[in-house]
Amino acid sequence: MINDKLPSIYYGGDYNPDQWPEEVWQEDMRLFKLAGINIVTLPVFSWAKLQPSEDTYDFEWLDKIIATVAKEGIFLCLATSTAAQPAWMSRLYPEVLPVDIDGRKRTHGSRVNFCPNSPVYRMFSQRLATKMAERYGQHPSLLVWHIGNEYAPHCYCDTCASSFRAWLQKKYGTLEVVNRVWNMSFWSHTVYEWEDIVPPTNLNGNNRCFQGIALDYKRFMSDAILECYQGEYDIIKRITPDIKITSNIWGLFNGLDLKKWADHMDVVSWDSYPQMNEPMSNVAMRHDYMRGLKDGQPFMLMEQTPSQQNWQPYNSLKRPGVMRLWSYQAIAHGADTVMFFQLRRSVGACEKYHGALIAHAGHEHTRVFQECTQLGKELQMLGDTLLDSVTESKVALLFDIDTWNAVEMTSGPSVDLDYLKQAQKYYRAFYDLNVSMDVISPLSDFSKYELIIAPVMYMLKPGVSDRLKSFVKQGGTFITSFFSGIVNENDLVTLGGYPGELRDLLGIWVEEIDALQPEMTNRIMMNSTFGELHGEYECGLLCDLLHLEGAEALGVYGRDFYAGMPAITRNTFGQGEAYYVATDPEQRFLEQLSKTICERLNLTTAHQAPEGVEIRSRQKDDKTYTFVLNHNAYETAILLNFGSYKDLLSHRIYERTLVLEPHGVAILEVCS
Ligand code: GLA
Ligand code: ZN
Repeated sequence: MINDKLPSIYYGGDYNPDQWPEEVWQEDMRLFKLAGINIVTLPVFSWAKLQPSEDTYDFEWLDKIIATVAKEGIFLCLATSTAAQPAWMSRLYPEVLPVDIDGRKRTHGSRVNFCPNSPVYRMFSQRLATKMAERYGQHPSLLVWHIGNEYAPHCYCDTCASSFRAWLQKKYGTLEVVNRVWNMSFWSHTVYEWEDIVPPTNLNGNNRCFQGIALDYKRFMSDAILECYQGEYDIIKRITPDIKITSNIWGLFNGLDLKKWADHMDVVSWDSYPQMNEPMSNVAMRHDYMRGLKDGQPFMLMEQTPSQQNWQPYNSLKRPGVMRLWSYQAIAHGADTVMFFQLRRSVGACEKYHGALIAHAGHEHTRVFQECTQLGKELQMLGDTLLDSVTESKVALLFDIDTWNAVEMTSGPSVDLDYLKQAQKYYRAFYDLNVSMDVISPLSDFSKYELIIAPVMYMLKPGVSDRLKSFVKQGGTFITSFFSGIVNENDLVTLGGYPGELRDLLGIWVEEIDALQPEMTNRIMMNSTFGELHGEYECGLLCDLLHLEGAEALGVYGRDFYAGMPAITRNTFGQGEAYYVATDPEQRFLEQLSKTICERLNLTTAHQAPEGVEIRSRQKDDKTYTFVLNHNAYETAILLNFGSYKDLLSHRIYERTLVLEPHGVAILEVCS
């Protein structure tokens, strides 16, 4: 449990009372109670008010609001408020302001607009964190700490440049090693002194010249920002060792090494803002990724909008039922909290059109408030039933931020190659079958899985290929795709033929990689029926030209000068099998491939759901809670496996068939 003071799903969100006169606070409390809010996150962006000058702090207003909230029995997620420094700091200490990749010094304003290596920023932020922890650490309503907010700054200033050199010295020891791992003899880049090393620049609009430098700079930045977080973390931990600490992750993004970050959090939390028409599989994948960051531990849904965003190009409303549906989807994937940004809509600045529990109308008679209230009641009713339950998956998708960055930074083979999209395509194929997946790092433990999928496993870190080989040798099934096994962690090519260290596992040698023009396609022609796969499929983007070295071809290319060469292969390796998809196939191919593999491995689902219905389970104390989520805007029937089931939400008993209303949800438990 995040904190057993509140043995229930945390329900609430970002609350900004400092933007409002005190008279409004009491009304807020009335409305929060009505909606079933049990936690508020504050003060996320109040540094300017908490420390109006270098030498003065003012906590009185916060004392008052905390007392007001606590009196109502509402708990606290306390933020350290260090994501936006006050204007006096930028004025008196301009070195806290960052420099962008083109060398331009930023002016004060916005948020997360500081140099992460600035000793001044670190000193002041740690001082504030200390004061917060000392003042409120023992408060009976405190449940969890929230450091910063969506960390993601990047800076290229002189302070960062010299910290980068120190980071490199620690990592590589000598310049000789740096010159080698960055391949600096290319374009006369040899460095003679540490001072010769500078942060990457954006020459001609991109930084794709030296992936070694650019990749290490990203890693260094992630570490530098982590040090900012860690500085606050250590202080708070010392003062309140029993309270969990987190920082809300911006989403599945490649600006930070999120896996490493998660190792420094007590509980992962993240902010989920899907676009209205985004495939639900993408949202599910992000939740699974967050759950995977701490090896399956429940996470916090720290933010979602109750209705609409302000920052998307088209900020559509969540349709009736959708906020509830997506909240349960998050829980189904491992969230133990449902929290919003924001509780009251602000009156000015860029978030005034961002959805909130309390609208500008200021009362409870709105659709959104009513939907939030219904959800609040349900969550209250569920109590601690679902808390700490876990997900058991036999399938894992490997996803790696470094690989993502490396693919993004590489020059060639195709500008259309998008690592995340490739992962999403494969994830979706299994999602559509309602097969539960974990999304994990290639450095995670593979032992509990039967099937591992790693699309575009471009970069292989030390030890990963050996671990994959022993996984397959012992009977595991492995699927990977084109542009895999190409480079090491420094983006240096593994010589001797692609896919490098995976060559014997896959039983193939890729001789060349063809990038198709956007209007070009090729075909995959199946040699014979393989499970669900038969006939022809369209493919494009990249086509590997490969030779068999022990594997068998299940299908071949249908066109071009490499017609007849293998396009999908299977290799028996020890007790297991390794598949290679040599090109980017149409989704239908991946659907049928995943179905075939799941049938071969007996990874089928118990209930039969039509398209648009997601089924996920969480387990606890020998009980299984099955979430049935109807993403369709129409009524949908699900055929249940033999037995009778109780829906924890409606308390109805179901046998054989469950009919869900548009965007409806059921949480089924087997009747004993
Ligand atoms: C992020 C931030 C919040 C708010 C929301 C708006 O998630 O953490 O402060 O700006 O976006 O969607
Ligand atoms: Zn800097």
